[in-house]
Amino acid sequence: MEAVKVGLLGLGTVGCGVVRVLARNDEEIARRAGRAIRIVRAASRDLSVSRDCDLSGIALTNRAQDVVDDPEIDIVVELIGGTTIAYEMVMRAIDQGKHVVTANKALIALYGNEIFARASEQGVTVAFEAAVGGGIPIIKAIREALAGNTIEWLAGIINGTGNFILSEMRDKGRDFEDVLSEAQSLGYAEADPTFDVEGIDAAHKLTILASIAFGIPLQYERVYTEGITRITREDVTYAAELGYRIKHLGIARRRDSGIELRVHPTLIPHRRLIANVDGVMNAVLVRADAVGSTLYYGPGAGAEPTASAVVADLVDVTRALTVDPNNRVPHLAFHPDSLIDLQVLPIGEAVTAYYLRLRAQDRPGVLADITRILGDLSISIEAVLQRQPAEEATDASIVIITAAVREANMDEAIRRIEALETTADHVTRIRLENLS
Ligand code: NDP
Ligand code: HSE
Repeated sequence: MEAVKVGLLGLGTVGCGVVRVLARNDEEIARRAGRAIRIVRAASRDLSVSRDCDLSGIALTNRAQDVVDDPEIDIVVELIGGTTIAYEMVMRAIDQGKHVVTANKALIALYGNEIFARASEQGVTVAFEAAVGGGIPIIKAIREALAGNTIEWLAGIINGTGNFILSEMRDKGRDFEDVLSEAQSLGYAEADPTFDVEGIDAAHKLTILASIAFGIPLQYERVYTEGITRITREDVTYAAELGYRIKHLGIARRRDSGIELRVHPTLIPHRRLIANVDGVMNAVLVRADAVGSTLYYGPGAGAEPTASAVVADLVDVTRALTVDPNNRVPHLAFHPDSLIDLQVLPIGEAVTAYYLRLRAQDRPGVLADITRILGDLSISIEAVLQRQPAEEATDASIVIITAAVREANMDEAIRRIEALETTADHVTRIRLENLS
């Protein structure tokens, strides 16, 4: 059978990874797909740059539309990134009846509803396994392998760069900026690395996971997002003393009143498997009613791990080329007319435990004032750690772990604690999840 012809947009970290993996494993891939998969044309901005992959036999251009418009091409692989040219090219490909594979989570999170609607009209598939969790087949697992379950919640370390930074800072005492530069040179970081460290990339990915887990439209703008830039070594140390690790998590939880969608640093008991996921590795823990808890682990970024997911999508799309479009796996796991608009809860309605750290005068009654405020707001204390002031200093450090509480109550408690004359600075708060 004739090879499926692929047009590649982008020859950067992932694009070159795809070229290498397809070339190295071409026979295995053809045995699985039922026919060979060949990249025949590729685009990048600058054709004079030397690439980390063998481009012989591939026609090159610096005009992305030349690839998309090439009538020979069956599947367009978008690995440019961003939401401008990538959006234009994906829509252009769909309008020409071409299938699309992309690793672009920003594009799917922001424009996925529109893209999938257009793809359905045109009877084509837009596959995006690489958009979440790099090489972990998490989209396929949730969309297909857990199709018999009602999913209750999921929590994931879903940004490789952020996890790499936190792990290196904790284990080797390295500086934030230094580790971020290394993540960039290893090809893990986004073109704009604030997407990684401010939680935006994780929020894009959580948007996608929540949609396929709960059958809701993609709604990135409703995700509460905090990054990792405010985590201090002091908090990492206190958390460890109390038996926790700080991880940057994306959490989606179904509650009776709606859905929690939040991305933020989180204390997790150190004995949980997910608390021990370090470096560029990602992991997603999914709690579903029939199967219970399942954990998906693997490299969350990097050229060939991501290429692994892109190529798997190419194989899936190739296999489905002859399948009636109405009988393909729906883009967002649920049939488009069965998506439901569950309410996304405001962050004040989230329910979680907390780690609080504050500085307070080292004199009798101070701790009692703080515990009374918490008690008045029905916030139970699970643990307290107090460190006496260092020589010549007057303030003690107090760390408190609370039981789960509505966030709005905690906001009020913090407001009252910060207003006490005996407390200094502001109260540091980090949410805590037991994930049990
Ligand atoms: P890179 O920046 O390494 O590569 C982007 C490529 O797009 C470059 O080859 C660039 O050309 C090309 N490009 C940019 N603008 C144009 C244009 N106007 N026309 C044609 N080509 C253009 O990005 P990555 O490979 O890291 O990421 C690609 C996508 O994959 C992004 O959406 C990213 O979020 C996603 N992703 C990345 C992962 C990773 O580990 N890196 C993991 C999972 C997803 P040139 O090289 O000439 O500048
Ligand atoms: N910048 C992303 C990360 C790439 O570090 O996780 C993978 O999506």
